[in-house]
This record gives sequence, structure tokens and C-alpha cells, in this order.
Amino acid sequence: MAVRPLETAISQHTRDVVTHYTARHAFRQDLFGQQPFANYGYWPHDELSFEQAGAQLTDLVAHTAGIADGDRILDVGCGYGANAVCYVRQCTPARVTGIDITEVRISNGRDYIAAQKLEHLIQLQLGDATRMEFADASFERLLAVECAFHFDTRRDFLHEAARVLVPGGTLALTDIIPRRGADPGAYMNGYRASASGVCLDIHANAYDADVYTEHLRAAGFTDIRIDSILEATRLPFARALRRLATSSAVERAQVLLRVAERIDHCSAGGEDYVLVFARKA
Ligand SMILES: C[S@@+](CC[C@H](N)C(=O)[O-])C[C@H]1O[C@@H](n2cnc3c(N)ncnc32)[C@H](O)[C@@H]1O
Repeated sequence: MAVRPLETAISQHTRDVVTHYTARHAFRQDLFGQQPFANYGYWPHDELSFEQAGAQLTDLVAHTAGIADGDRILDVGCGYGANAVCYVRQCTPARVTGIDITEVRISNGRDYIAAQKLEHLIQLQLGDATRMEFADASFERLLAVECAFHFDTRRDFLHEAARVLVPGGTLALTDIIPRRGADPGAYMNGYRASASGVCLDIHANAYDADVYTEHLRAAGFTDIRIDSILEATRLPFARALRRLATSSAVERAQVLLRVAERIDHCSAGGEDYVLVFARKA
């Protein structure tokens, strides 16, 4: 089935995000094999594959949201659909709807869902997290693994999330934010991603957990929790890249080491990786 074009115009920043993830597609199978995750993973210990860590991160978000049989689940920034497949392995939802802004992810994700024979439960569609085409109160759970830092803006997304959730519905996501007191210049450093040459900084989203909590509250959320999981996500991911580099050809090893160095540099400069939970009042 062809991917229906977006009906709403998107910002220049969001266009840059699409350029980046479209370019990243060529490297898709570098780290992940059968399960097409595209995240840093959750590493309770270092002896995991990238795929296992990707699944653990997804399970953590699902557990945090409290997904259960019969739920209507919205997976925002669904990538290639690997998160959605994990969700239906954990419970029997009424359905999982995934949206993502990058067309190649939706088209390849649909092939992946079809190969898993899960088309009756999971539908992926092109969509912008900040302007969703869903009616009010359409979902019990909204999950978003490692993508809200890209949204233009995250604040708009939080208002949309509250609109499409039923009262009492839950939001769970992982996100990248500056630590409290981080130097904004070190956090917004103008770095251009090596895969795409694009700078993905977005100043409107560069605020800490306290401001994040205020935005969640203003959007209509309660029971808010924001916890750092940096030590179990980006840092062990960088260590895993370094391990992989030791058994890789020279050129690839250099790329892996550069990415690992970059992650450590950004973490030292104040970047945090957080798990967020909130309930719609
Ligand atoms: C780091 S990937 C995570 C993908 C997936 N959740 C996973 O864990 O494998 C970030 C994803 O967010 C998507 N994205 C970025 N901005 C978006 C937006 N405004 N609306 C919807 N998706 C967006 C990207 O296309 C990309 O697939």
C-alpha cells in the first residue's frame, strides 16, 4: 500500500529531521538485524546485543505506560514498527497505531509488520507528532520511544498527546533533555550529524526536567515522573560501539568510535536521557 502524503505543511526543522532519518536508512542494518529498532537501547548490563537492548528499552516504556489487553495504543515516532511489535507481544491491544514523519520508515515498517503477520493489529501511517489526525480521546496509551526531542515543538506535541488520550490515559516516553544547570551553549552545540550533514538542534526543546514538568502540567497531565536513565542507555550504548569497533574493519571502526566519542562528549556537556510518565487528568 502506498504511503499517503502528509496533508499538513511541516517546518524547516522537521524537514531536516526527515532528511536525517532518510539518510540514516542506508545504515539501518549496521547495528540491528531482524528487529528494526532505531534507539540507544536499555542495558541493565553490557552483555546484550543492540537488538536485545532496543527491545528492553521498548519493554521499559510499555511497562511504564501500563499497557493492557484491549488498549488502543498510539506509538508516536514509531520508526520501522519494532516498538509496536513488542507491544503486541506483551498484551493483546485492541490495536496499535504508529505514526512517523519519515516516509521510508513507514513503507519499510509496513513490510516488517506484514512479515510478522500482524497487519490486523498494527497500522503504521505517515504523521506529524505535533498535528495528529486523530479525534479527541482516541487512545488509552500513548508511547513515544526516543523521539520527542525532535518535535517542533515538544510542547505542541504534549498538548496533542493530552487531546488524543482518554481521561486517565497514560503517556510514557524516553527523551533527551539538558540536565538542570547545564550550559545551553554546550547542549545546543551546532553539531552536524555525520550520516546526513544536518544540524538537529532545536532551541525550543532545550529545557530541563523542571520546565518539562510545567509543560506537562499545562497540557493537562498529572502524576508526572521524569527520571534519568542515562547510565543504562546512551553510556552503555557508546561502550557497545567501542566493543564493536575492535572487531570491525578500520573505516567502520573509525565511524563507530567517532559516534561513541560524540555521545560521551554530549553527556559530559549536560545531555541527559530520561524516562517520562504522565497521566491525563
Ligand atoms: C531515534 S528514532 C526512534 C524510532 C523508534 N521509536 C525506535 O525506538 O526504534 C526517532 C524517530 O522519530 C521520528 N520523528 C521525528 N520527528 C517526528 C515528528 N515530528 N512526528 C513524527 N515522527 C517524528 C523520526 O522519523 C524517527 O523515526
